[in-house]
Amino acid sequence: MPADAQLAAREDWVIHWLDRRKDGVGALVARAVAGATPGRDSTLAWLGVQRQVRSFLRQAATVPRDRSSERVLAALDDHVAALSAAGARAHVAVATADPATLVDARSRFGIRVALIGKGGAGKTVISSTLSRLLARRGRNVVAVDLDVNPGLAISLGLPATDAGLPPEAIEEAPSAPYGWQLTTGLSPEEAVARFATVAPDGVRYLGLGKIGSADKEVARRSVAAVRQILLGLGAPDWDVVADLEAGPTTPFENYHDFSDHVVMVIGPAWRSAMTARRLLPMVGDRRLTIVYNRFRDEPDHPGLPPDLRIPFDADLTQAEREGRAPIDACPGSAVVAAVGRLADLVVAAQQR
Ligand SMILES: Nc1ncnc2c1ncn2[C@@H]1O[C@H](COP(=O)(O)OP(=O)(O)OP(=O)(O)O)[C@@H](O)[C@H]1O
Ligand SMILES: [Mg+2]
Repeated sequence: MPADAQLAAREDWVIHWLDRRKDGVGALVARAVAGATPGRDSTLAWLGVQRQVRSFLRQAATVPRDRSSERVLAALDDHVAALSAAGARAHVAVATADPATLVDARSRFGIRVALIGKGGAGKTVISSTLSRLLARRGRNVVAVDLDVNPGLAISLGLPATDAGLPPEAIEEAPSAPYGWQLTTGLSPEEAVARFATVAPDGVRYLGLGKIGSADKEVARRSVAAVRQILLGLGAPDWDVVADLEAGPTTPFENYHDFSDHVVMVIGPAWRSAMTARRLLPMVGDRRLTIVYNRFRDEPDHPGLPPDLRIPFDADLTQAEREGRAPIDACPGSAVVAAVGRLADLVVAAQQR
């Protein structure tokens, strides 16, 4: 494709997504307005609008204005104006909500958590157990494996899977990362409802699929679409727990852009703390919870005080050998109890 045509296609793609996101927020506002008897559901819906607007405006700010054509700038200005107006409405609705209603709405407002840390720190064990425990508390949970060397499905209690999103969920888009995106007309909520796998306790599982399987394209095709689902999942009463790949590569690529809370998992090894220090700047303005995992009697890492400690427990190793979910294999383990306290922490953080 000639350079001009390539540029035009790229711009079409940027405008396509600005419009899709604006429509997504429009649909959320319509839902909030429809439920707008002064009741808890409308407050919850407006909290969802507020969050989605904040998240999309953060993305919009990354479009380079100085290198954008007039038509991209026009779409961008229109996008920002529409989102800002929706955000202002949501702000008024939340600010004027009855305090008891607001407390109730916040208690049901979904958490958006990304787990990061060095390889082997315990991200997958903690993500899966957290997801299952949240679901047992009656919450709607999507657990997402953002690692192309996946392990979350097994740890949730599902059979191992190499599959990413099915063909109906994705379409070719030459300007998208790796050339694929979430199908036009398919909302992130529909995508979860139709294509996520139902895991024990009702957790919904989504993954990128595996690199290195017979079909090497699986993960490439799914990656942009899964991230679009995460970023655009407006449903205010859904929790999202995402298990990122080890180390800084995908946090650097902003795979946690959907999150408003980061759980940094750190093991006792010095290198685990070193990785954590490298990851800290990527947390940005999100809430941060530092979790020490697998510690026995090792000293704390300087400058990285933990918010929560999860002890070493040999039963976990056995669960892994058997390919079972830790919460099924050793429900009484200290690890499962400590992850329960993590669930308390992340849910409580949302109340503020
Ligand atoms: N608290 C713990 N006590 C004992 N073993 C643990 C504990 N937490 C995790 N493990 C074990 O450590 C190994 C690594 O855990 P896990 O797979 O969750 O780490 P990870 O951070 O997801 O790793 P990767 O970066 O490779 O995806 C697993 O064998 C797991 O069973
Ligand atoms: Mg893992």
